[in-house]
Amino acid sequence: MIILGIETSCDDTAAAVLRDGKDIVSNVISSQEAYHAKYGGIVPEIASRRHQENIIPVVGEALERAQFTLDNIDGIAVTMGPGLAGSLLVGLNVAKALAYSRSLPLVGVNHLEGHLLAPHLAGEVPMPNVTLVVSGGHTNLYHVEGIGKYRLLGGTRDDAAGEAFDKVAKMLELGYPGGIVIDRLAAEGDSEAIKFPRPMLKDKGHEFSFSGLKTAVRNHIVREGLETIKDERLNNLAASFQEAVVEILVEKTIRAALKLGVKALAVSGGVACNSRLRAHMQARGAQSGIEVFLPPPVLCTGFSMERMIMHLELQF
Ligand code: KG4
Repeated sequence: MIILGIETSCDDTAAAVLRDGKDIVSNVISSQEAYHAKYGGIVPEIASRRHQENIIPVVGEALERAQFTLDNIDGIAVTMGPGLAGSLLVGLNVAKALAYSRSLPLVGVNHLEGHLLAPHLAGEVPMPNVTLVVSGGHTNLYHVEGIGKYRLLGGTRDDAAGEAFDKVAKMLELGYPGGIVIDRLAAEGDSEAIKFPRPMLKDKGHEFSFSGLKTAVRNHIVREGLETIKDERLNNLAASFQEAVVEILVEKTIRAALKLGVKALAVSGGVACNSRLRAHMQARGAQSGIEVFLPPPVLCTGFSMERMIMHLELQF
């Protein structure tokens, strides 16, 4: 079965072709980063206008790279939300038009379910498991009992972890998106240089909170003066902030897995690209007898398509 997937939930236009559920034949992502960077975040109107320009070439490119035409496609999958309304509409309408004109089945896919299933494209992930979806918009812990059987254990009460990365990067004038820049600077820094709080780490529940940590970073910057935070001091700040986020995410995920007695956990979403999160989660999983599944970065971000297509296969 050959599925064409279309994704325009946020700022990047993507299309992919998948064979029999798990074989990624082609995956094309058109990044809009350069258009949004100067605003320090995504401008919804710009995102939706870029999608309008990009969507047809991106779908065409995905088919071409797969060496297919629409004649080879058996069904279409498209992100139906959550996401930016103006962005979602572009992908949805193109998907509807293609499906209607070719009499193909069309399945709308939930963005978060896409994240939840992404790790399964990189290999067999045992279920039940605990999956952490950690992106620019969400920080959610799920008990995944099977395909379509997800129980939300807890989410963030305020900022998502990725949002905290982006906002701290903005305060430090490091550009957008911030997570990857902080990850890079942190690799050269001392994570114990500044003691930042770990909000809700001791709380036995499964909820998160990152706004207090973000405020602590802001207070530190105001106290020290942004102009003095350079080179080694900047690296140390990035590493100390990142360590606080990572410790909270890792400890709460491991705790949830132990509490539920599952033997596997997975991490997905843009922040799952973070090198320190990946290393620390692996290490803590090994210590706790829990197998950790981390999809390759291209399957972590909101705009990788293949995971949605796999879901479509499972729905047929
Ligand atoms: O899943 P995603 O691509 O989009 C959605 O939010 O749905 O996630 C984007 C988020 C951004 O906040 C970005 O800063 C963060 O993922 N991110 C990272 C890293 N790479 C991307 N955060 C920390 N470390 C990274 N290496």
